[in-house]
Amino acid sequence: MEQYVIRGGNPLVGEVDIGGAKNAALAILAASVMTDETVRIDNLPDVRDINVLIQAMEEIGVSVQRTDRHTVIINAAGIQDLLVDNEYIKKIRASYYLLGALLGKYKRAEVALPGGCNIGSRPIDQHIKGFRALGANVRIAHGRVIAEAEKLTGRHIYMDVVTVGATINVMMAAALAEGRTIIENAAKEPHVVDLANFLNSMGANIKGAGTDVIRIRGVEKLHKTEYSVIPDQIEAGTFMFAAAATKGDVTVRNVIPKHLESITAKLIELGCEVRESDDEVRVVASGPLTHTHVKTLAYPGFPTDMQPQITTTLALSEGTSIVTESIFENRFKYVDELAKMGANIKVEGNTAIIDGISRYTGARISAPDLRAGAALVIAGLAAEGITVVDDIYYVERGYEDFDVKLRGLGAMIEKASTEKEIQKFQLKTG
Ligand code: UD1
Repeated sequence: MEQYVIRGGNPLVGEVDIGGAKNAALAILAASVMTDETVRIDNLPDVRDINVLIQAMEEIGVSVQRTDRHTVIINAAGIQDLLVDNEYIKKIRASYYLLGALLGKYKRAEVALPGGCNIGSRPIDQHIKGFRALGANVRIAHGRVIAEAEKLTGRHIYMDVVTVGATINVMMAAALAEGRTIIENAAKEPHVVDLANFLNSMGANIKGAGTDVIRIRGVEKLHKTEYSVIPDQIEAGTFMFAAAATKGDVTVRNVIPKHLESITAKLIELGCEVRESDDEVRVVASGPLTHTHVKTLAYPGFPTDMQPQITTTLALSEGTSIVTESIFENRFKYVDELAKMGANIKVEGNTAIIDGISRYTGARISAPDLRAGAALVIAGLAAEGITVVDDIYYVERGYEDFDVKLRGLGAMIEKASTEKEIQKFQLKTG
């Protein structure tokens, strides 16, 4: 099992290129099976979640050709199987996007039921409600969601909660339904907009993505396209908070600053200087960090996927901060790991009360999930001494070359798989 071994204490300084958005790419990849013509997708991040979804697609007969590390050419004319089995769903929940995509195109799909995960239970009632509203018969049998329809018909659908997943799944099915669908209380995340743009580039008729009312006029079929995925807002935000926690000076390049507004606003409240230009944002943290409060919300609110990173940084800020998690029920597990590094954080229900300390001390910790794993790396970079982060498998689900990019900013971090390698790193950097 690989680990990150980190010698902390260096401010991160320099420029880092941000890759394509994992969550947008997952939706776009799934949607690419909705045409029999050839689709080319660019700016895909080379991360585990993406590669697993590609395997799941290949398994049902989709041809996927990787022309370079970040580009694929997809042709789904040869799909033979409408069943996505548990092996893939277990590895990556977002394989369930194939439900909406296949249901839209073939009027039938069967996908293993996604379970809970490390950040809490994750129901799919709104996905099912949306498919049923479009006229599909949806049942759960043998651990699978089976959706089928004679035909799909556009409807007015109100989402009871703001959900990225259900908005995306229903939008895909509705793109090939007959007539007009209106999704009310839709998620407004940048990846929802990116998927709508992608589908429109294939001939769909989707308006209003990015607002809470999405209007879809169904079309008969979709056609070929070439598309480039938007930059990853969360990867960018992670480096921005790493700059703050290490008192560094980091410019994230190839980003859309508008997507980073809630992150930028909080960094300014913490006392950082943030400078934006066309497609770059520079974060300079020279003085002491100050406390603030934050509540995670659907976009354009502060993202839940940045909650561990901001909590980790606030633990190094003067005074008392409060972080409220309002999207997922169990997203503070990593706090026990931060406590091993000296953090003073009390979790009550969905709230963390943080009393700032002046410095973390290195410890042996393990990543409980993807974003928390990245946050623990930030803690290690800011800590005195050596930190070993176990279970970096999680981090690699969503960050391409995380250690390489951090080294480019002056961090002392390496991957290790044995105690010997850890000791070697200690000697080398000591
Ligand atoms: C997506 C992101 C994830 C991010 C999350 C919130 C992907 C692949 N993943 O996850 O990184 O943390 O958005 O921004 O894009 N809910 C229901 N019923 C449903 C669906 C969701 O009650 O049918 C609830 C969930 O339990 C949660 C909230 O709605 O409390 C938001 O979930 P949702 O936006 O659907 O998250 P995901 O799409 O799973």
